[in-house]
Amino acid sequence: MLKIEKLLPADIPAVVEISQQQFGAHGWQTDMFVQQLDQENHFAFVAKLDGTVVAFVFVMKTFGEKGEDFNVLNVATRKGFENMGIGTEVFAFLIKLSKSLDIGLLWLEVRESNENAIKFYKNLGFCVDYVRKKYYANGENALVMSCKL
Ligand SMILES: CC(C)(COP(=O)(O)OP(=O)(O)OC[C@H]1O[C@@H](n2cnc3c(N)ncnc32)[C@H](O)[C@@H]1OP(=O)(O)O)[C@@H](O)C(=O)NCCC(=O)NCCS
Repeated sequence: MLKIEKLLPADIPAVVEISQQQFGAHGWQTDMFVQQLDQENHFAFVAKLDGTVVAFVFVMKTFGEKGEDFNVLNVATRKGFENMGIGTEVFAFLIKLSKSLDIGLLWLEVRESNENAIKFYKNLGFCVDYVRKKYYANGENALVMSCKL
């Protein structure tokens, strides 16, 4: 059974493992994940399938034109568990949480080449707002996408 819960320090090694699987050297390292847990206005959750961490999400509260928003900073599903509906469940949890906190918008940056993620976000109701040219270290553009709640 899939359970989504607050990320605890004991989950960090599994989260680092998933990050390395999915992002390689581009991914956050252990210290970055640990720092996130201490930041005010940052929230992190894991999805556990029968006790194994199979996905994570990190969000940060930001202040937009119409009030408070959530910026999705980092999200990934464990290798071999993608495309099984886990990411969709994580976002359903996030949307419910956002609404309970009066958050009006989710937004994020995604690599222009990351077709699976872009399709995933569009399925969830995200739209492309604009392009951030050469946003990533390798010169790749980022799409800024958002979803009104
Ligand atoms: C993007 C990601 C978080 C989605 O999580 P997930 O658990 O795979 O998502 P779900 O199974 O709930 O959603 C599946 C949808 O996402 C897309 N998708 C996800 N993985 C896919 C894959 N391997 N191949 C094709 N489509 C894929 C599809 O649109 C699919 O829906 P559809 O088949 O009905 O079209 C996950 O695939 C992942 O970790 N990717 C690598 C890391 C990454 O890119 N993170 C986002 C950075 S901005």
